[in-house]
Amino acid sequence: MSSATACAQPNIALVKYWGKRDEGLILPATGSLSMTLDAFTTTTTVRLGVEADSFTLNGSPAAEAAMSRTTSFLDLVRELAADDGPAAVTSVNEAPTGAGLASSASGFAALALAASKAYGLDLDQSELSRLARRGSGSACRSIVPGFAVWHAGRDDASSYAEPIPAPDLRLVIVTIDSHEKAVSSREAMRLTRDTSPFYNAWISSTEAVLDEMVSACRTGDIARIGELTELHALRMHAVIASCRPPVRYLAPASVSVFDAAAALRASGVQAWATADAGPNVCLLTTPGEAGEVASAVSGLGRVRVVSPGPGARLVSPGLGARSVP
Ligand code: DP6
Repeated sequence: MSSATACAQPNIALVKYWGKRDEGLILPATGSLSMTLDAFTTTTTVRLGVEADSFTLNGSPAAEAAMSRTTSFLDLVRELAADDGPAAVTSVNEAPTGAGLASSASGFAALALAASKAYGLDLDQSELSRLARRGSGSACRSIVPGFAVWHAGRDDASSYAEPIPAPDLRLVIVTIDSHEKAVSSREAMRLTRDTSPFYNAWISSTEAVLDEMVSACRTGDIARIGELTELHALRMHAVIASCRPPVRYLAPASVSVFDAAAALRASGVQAWATADAGPNVCLLTTPGEAGEVASAVSGLGRVRVVSPGPGARLVSPGLGARSVP
């Protein structure tokens, strides 16, 4: 009776993924770049030798939509492993699910590793990243430690994330609301592609920002990394707001955090804001300034400073976590 347990953390994109070229394979319209966090761990166990598929999330049976996404994902693993046996999936998620802290990224990264091991597959980092991508696009970046570039690729084989050198940075996460969002990223991405008059400009400008961000990371140009991070987040929220019907993820309190970042910069502190598909905002800063940034925004939400974290890894009972080779 085979079983495997894996952990993974969410990632926050500095260059966002927003739009798919192929919905079935989850091929993105552009590449993206992120930092995997050292917080909000998802721990997932996949156990074979059971009667039927099941998915327990944070101690309760998962809702139907989450269950069917998990079963479809297990089907991909079963096809790769040529083993159609059912699996019991148990997952514990430290991040608030669905609130824009990318719990689907840590969730599918941990599931990809645990399920592939339980079904006897031995995938390398890029194969695992490709597999995680099929569950949720951004999950492919949570396989990778630290900073990751997800290459858009031409096809399934060429669309995966890999590590990129970058300076040591911190994210100050300001949690404003941890309720599930009204419109999922998946749905809003589709709506953006289908209804925004600015979609093509979003895609072509993202390619240019990604190229600039990759070179800023390589040269360690923190000011350029920060400026591009905030600019790209605001462009994503602008293209989302231009949908029909419009979607707005940022709350008034989120906008206050963007204002706080501008005020910090005006006083000589390095801080740049970004937000995924939800109201919570992250401030990118340096290790030396993270404490000051965190106290400046402590009145705006729950604040936590996070560092670049590890990629997805197996957890051997009694032995702790170990990295994927
Ligand atoms: C705003 O990866 O959740 O966080 O591929 O449809 O599952 P699906 O979408 P998902 O979208 C993440 C969108 C984002 C930006 C990012 O993480 O790059």
